[in-house]
Amino acid sequence: MQEPGKFSEKSAIELLRWYQAMGVDETISETPLDWSSLQDTKALLPQPAPATNRPDNRRTSARSAAPPPQAPVSAPAHKPAHVNLPAATLAARDLAAKASDLQGLERTLAEFDGCALKKTAKNLCFARGNPQARLMLIGEAPGRDEDLSGKPFVGRAGQLLDKMLTAIGLTPDDVYVTNVVYWRPPGNRTPTPHEVQACQPFLERHIELAGPEMIVLLGGAAAKQMLATEQGIMKLRGKWKSIEIAGKPIKTLATLHPAFLLRNPVSKRLAWRDLLTIQAALEGKGD
Ligand code: URA
Repeated sequence: MQEPGKFSEKSAIELLRWYQAMGVDETISETPLDWSSLQDTKALLPQPAPATNRPDNRRTSARSAAPPPQAPVSAPAHKPAHVNLPAATLAARDLAAKASDLQGLERTLAEFDGCALKKTAKNLCFARGNPQARLMLIGEAPGRDEDLSGKPFVGRAGQLLDKMLTAIGLTPDDVYVTNVVYWRPPGNRTPTPHEVQACQPFLERHIELAGPEMIVLLGGAAAKQMLATEQGIMKLRGKWKSIEIAGKPIKTLATLHPAFLLRNPVSKRLAWRDLLTIQAALEGKGD
């Protein structure tokens, strides 16, 4: 009979299997911690989006633009839009604005504590590729391999991404790659709207400083955030839209996320069409 409160080896293995199935694939420190006893655990849990305006200065020409998930409080017409933004977002925007180049922005982010994801991540995952590239790719969030290496898209999804780029004649040096959040969400869960919003001022400055000619959004999370819509990726993908970053319009196309394609290889034909659309735009053809 098993002693009360103690696990048999078999049930401990079952528990580990369950954790693994739930996406818990690593410990985050050598010493076990009772997270439920910590005062500060709220910061680690998904939090609802604050009921404010979008914290960014983007505008999209996408007609489909829908309100953010929680009821927005509209800025009164006689006040500037930023008046209703949360203090943390305004502070993040000020910090991001002070960075005069990409290295400075990365350093500022490394010192920024306004995104709860930083607490559980091992490394800041800023960008990879060529900052001077014409094409900037934006994914969802770093995974385990990215967290370990501090570079976006270096795991299985990243390898598929590189193959997709090769298929249209691009090398990793022809693109600049980042994510909508800069730290890995625990267990690879989808980042919450709150976490995405905390990183948004930095992402916008990131885009502004890199100055790409075109942006490709990889997957639904990046597409919804950057196109300011609640529409699904299957509706959004494959069409050029225009987003405005710091007053400048940038041609932007959403496509399927490589991790989705790994799970749903039959959808690769849709991704292929999107790749051809991107290739045509880079060659100055298409719309
Ligand atoms: N998936 C993403 O969205 N980003 C990465 O960096 C890796 C996998």
